[in-house]
Amino acid sequence: MIQPKITVVGSINMDLVTETDVVPVQGETVKGMKFQSVPGGKGANQAVAAARLGADVTMIGRVGDDQFGDELIDNLRKQNIQVENIDRVADTPSGLANIILSEQDNRIIIIAGANEKVTKDYLEQTKAAILESDYVLLQFEIPKETIEYSLELCEKHDIPVIVNPAPAMELDKAIWEKATYITPNETERQQLFGNQYNAKLITTKGKQGVSFVEAGKEQEVGGYNVDVVDTTGAGDTFNGALAVALAEGYPLTKAVTFANAAAALSVSKLGAQGGMPTREQVEQFLQKG
Ligand code: RIB
Repeated sequence: MIQPKITVVGSINMDLVTETDVVPVQGETVKGMKFQSVPGGKGANQAVAAARLGADVTMIGRVGDDQFGDELIDNLRKQNIQVENIDRVADTPSGLANIILSEQDNRIIIIAGANEKVTKDYLEQTKAAILESDYVLLQFEIPKETIEYSLELCEKHDIPVIVNPAPAMELDKAIWEKATYITPNETERQQLFGNQYNAKLITTKGKQGVSFVEAGKEQEVGGYNVDVVDTTGAGDTFNGALAVALAEGYPLTKAVTFANAAAALSVSKLGAQGGMPTREQVEQFLQKG
């Protein structure tokens, strides 16, 4: 099997994760249980997911000139991701995500920091990586004009691209059409597409699995009943794995099944990247059924 080349254009964050039994209401202070800072960001998470599954991954993004920036680049390098197209932005903090974990689910506030500087001009400087790719992954934690330009570039050069519209942001109809697949969760799908039929949509539904369209028909792949430690990054694992499978030529149903299994495994450990599985782990999990 030739190693597929995947390029991720997206965010890189440090996740500041607080675990608590009680989520405070306005004006309230509560005692939490645990705090950790771990690497995250939807772009970086998808890059790590794809690399762990065996792809040759390049990340295009930016971090600040702070300590988090050092740690975030170091982390990606250790995951065998090509980091030459990750730039340090002077006088700018790295992206941050404030995550509250409670009752097996998360609440997230992001502060864009250097992710806001992943501009169209920056993409222009780094686009050689995109042009060498078998598949491109995009999410919505970087400026809209960069997302639009990435899609235009991919269309022009016939490079397939998965758009993970998270967090939800409206795009023009003509821009959505440039995506090969669009992978919202149920909330994002409702916000962006309502009940419209769109054959490019692959909707992740947590424990309920995934719905998508193949050969003009709505299909479902069921979810798994797994022990949940942290669901953060499950969607990112799905997207990274989907890109790997499609780039390797899997037919859509098989690719969605593979990505769904990878996402199920990812929730078993704390941190968005903590539980992302290896190729062997996904294959074994699928074999067990
Ligand atoms: O999808 C999970 C990610 O969303 C977290 O890692 C956090 O950084 C936010 O970007």
